[in-house]
Amino acid sequence: MHHFEELSTSFIERFNVPHFPSHPASLYEPADYFLGLGGKRIRPVLSLMGNELFGEIDPDAWLLANAVEIFHNFTLIHDDIMDKAPLRRGKPTVHEKYGSSTALLTGDVMMVAAYDYISRMQPPHIRPIMQIFNQAAKQVCEGQQLDMDFETTERVGLDEYLSMIELKTSVLLAASLQMGAVLGGAGLGNQQHLYNFGKALGLAFQVQDDYLDCFGDPAKFGKQVGGDIVAGKKTFLLIRTLEVATAAQHRQIKELEQADPVSKVTGMLQLFKACGVDGWARELKEKYMQASYQHLEDIAVLARRKEPLRELAAFLVQREY
Ligand code: IPE
Ligand code: IPE
Ligand code: MG
Ligand code: MG
Ligand code: MG
Repeated sequence: MHHFEELSTSFIERFNVPHFPSHPASLYEPADYFLGLGGKRIRPVLSLMGNELFGEIDPDAWLLANAVEIFHNFTLIHDDIMDKAPLRRGKPTVHEKYGSSTALLTGDVMMVAAYDYISRMQPPHIRPIMQIFNQAAKQVCEGQQLDMDFETTERVGLDEYLSMIELKTSVLLAASLQMGAVLGGAGLGNQQHLYNFGKALGLAFQVQDDYLDCFGDPAKFGKQVGGDIVAGKKTFLLIRTLEVATAAQHRQIKELEQADPVSKVTGMLQLFKACGVDGWARELKEKYMQASYQHLEDIAVLARRKEPLRELAAFLVQREY
């Protein structure tokens, strides 16, 4: 049994090797650039923890860890194009640095590299892993499309928002855990409980992500603060504010829609604060954390074995980056 620090250190040691050929550098260098920027490496660690919950780390878990991390990084490169994001992990995004066409293609080849790692697993593992992986991958696309559709949808309800973030974010966390559990030899029931733990945790995780996008410390956050406001994202901050705003505040929001990006961010942040969205964010996170812990309890292994997952969950919803 290992905790987050140990598992992420072991993963990073194995992950910091060449994943791509050197030629053409114009395609592969951006991939190395992006992977070299770091990141929290949460998904591979979830896979390793999902495995360790049920048994010794299977050699295929390291292939799985590479696959989920490279796949995640591919989604980020394409996400940054869609969100017109200039910054990620404190550095220029791939499309900003190398152009959008390269960012598209580099993302594509990274997705293929992720599948390559899966294809190198022991044959009996490939089918079950591929099935879970592919379902999550399709759902991420669905969630990403809904996220963009909502930019031009006048009113988005909290339920619609929650099902969108479940697709774009939660299912990959959940699947990373479940695939690890498969390699650990877990039964279907336990796999399902672990998946549900990841799904609820993922909602709290994306709530925190959306919160940090508005109120994060730019020095720690690594992304453009206020980016979601500029892009017109329907985050829970906006949804909640529209629910509780007074008539005067509604007029202010309408006016801000026409304002320049800087005034829009400043104005909306003030409104979010005035409408008490930070308290609401805490409640929402708490609700899904409790739900996730409930699913964790349902898993039929000794409570002691679940400690690393509990700890990681607590870190993820408190994180500042
Ligand atoms: C960012 O994921 C995208 C979301 C789903 C919120 P992370 O916050 O895990 O990003 P990195 O990999 O640590 O940079
Ligand atoms: C992205 O959500 C989810 C995926 C990449 C699939 P966001 O757009 O909020 O992620 P960040 O904030 O750019 O990391
Ligand atoms: Mg984004
Ligand atoms: Mg996005
Ligand atoms: Mg975000």
